[in-house]
Amino acid sequence: MGEKHKVHFEPVDIEIEVDEEETVLDAAFRQGVMLMHGCRQGQCAACKAFLLDGDMEMDPFSTFALNETEEEEGFVLLCKSYAYGDLDVELIAYHEDMLETGVPIQMVHAEVEEIEALTHDIKRLVLNLVDPPEMNFIPGQYAELYLPGSNEHRAYSMANTTSSAERAEFIIKVYPGGMFSSYLEEDLKVGDKMKVKVPFGMFMLHEKSEGDIIFLGGGSGMAPIWSILNHMAEKGIGRKATFYYGARTKKDLFYLDELAALEEKLPGFRFVPALSEPDPADEWDGETGLITDVLNRLEGDLGGTEAYLAGPPPMIDAAIPVIEMKGVERESIYFDKFTTTGEAEGSKKKEVRGPEAPERLG
Ligand SMILES: Cc1cc2nc3c(=O)[nH]c(=O)nc-3n(C[C@H](O)[C@H](O)[C@H](O)COP(=O)(O)OP(=O)(O)OC[C@H]3O[C@@H](n4cnc5c(N)ncnc54)[C@H](O)[C@@H]3O)c2cc1C
Ligand code: FES
Repeated sequence: MGEKHKVHFEPVDIEIEVDEEETVLDAAFRQGVMLMHGCRQGQCAACKAFLLDGDMEMDPFSTFALNETEEEEGFVLLCKSYAYGDLDVELIAYHEDMLETGVPIQMVHAEVEEIEALTHDIKRLVLNLVDPPEMNFIPGQYAELYLPGSNEHRAYSMANTTSSAERAEFIIKVYPGGMFSSYLEEDLKVGDKMKVKVPFGMFMLHEKSEGDIIFLGGGSGMAPIWSILNHMAEKGIGRKATFYYGARTKKDLFYLDELAALEEKLPGFRFVPALSEPDPADEWDGETGLITDVLNRLEGDLGGTEAYLAGPPPMIDAAIPVIEMKGVERESIYFDKFTTTGEAEGSKKKEVRGPEAPERLG
């Protein structure tokens, strides 16, 4: 362990202690403070904050998450920031009622229980939790799965609900040459041991709200939405909900029977799959086109609706303006971008100092 420092967050007036060897975001999790975050890899910008005072260093990050101008102004990514003195940090985005309700992060030792092919390139992975035998999470959140015998890990959203907290279920798309997904495809077997760090992420149903819901997902973006939908069925949350799901061809679709069963259980729920490249042999008489275009075509005014989007970043980036144009408030659009880990663009470790005059506040 390294030297310890204090980090004070404005405008919420919360103070935590941070070790020089952990990121500010991890230190906050350790102390039960749920700061806004997404990928934890410097890729998505969800943890962006403003350094008011103090010295820190940042590990490499993507310039999509923080560009050079922002960096010069004093913006930082808390998932990549290490404190080398006491810090004063201004949070840009936070959920007041969630800030101090963070579930402490746990490392869970698990065993592979099942690997099932859902499509030609999407697998369902089920882990049986051994120590501790259960995990805490909120449907929609994600875990970090460690490659057996290594410190390399990848983020995958839980696809099960808390009613089966002794298991962790995932829906994983296999990328040829992908470090984790091709290991899952080629090497992982039932009985193998695996470490899982849980829970992370802010993607979850806002249960206090009673508004209608639009879900939008593509590929393995099914995972967190599947978890939330099953949670709604288990808790009898009958809000009107429409799930737009994009796939290329019919062979990329899965869980059709299960989604039809959910439509029976949740009277307000409708599933709308769409194929962007239907094969003539598919004999598909459902919706066709990009899923965002399908939503645009089928939906009218969405004022008062909440939107939950999960999957590849380009799909989410395309969907947000369309959903906003339909009348959904920006703050009622929640998303889980499945950014990839790979090599982060950006600088080597950077020294960052709090600016003397935070002009951007003016
Ligand atoms: C919050 C969060 C939740 C996530 N949840 C899920 C989930 O539930 N299910 C799921 O399948 N994934 C999910 N992901 C993505 C996942 O973490 C990995 O990035 C993905 O599985 C690729 O990892 P890999 O080790 O197989 O490939 P890597 O070794 O990281 O990548 C190697 C190569 O694979 C190719 N590749 C990887 N990803 C993509 C992509 N998206 N599009 C095109 N090519 C790609 C690229 O050529 C890349 O260079 C999530 C990501 C985040 C941040
Ligand atoms: S959580 Fe820090 S950039 Fe995504």
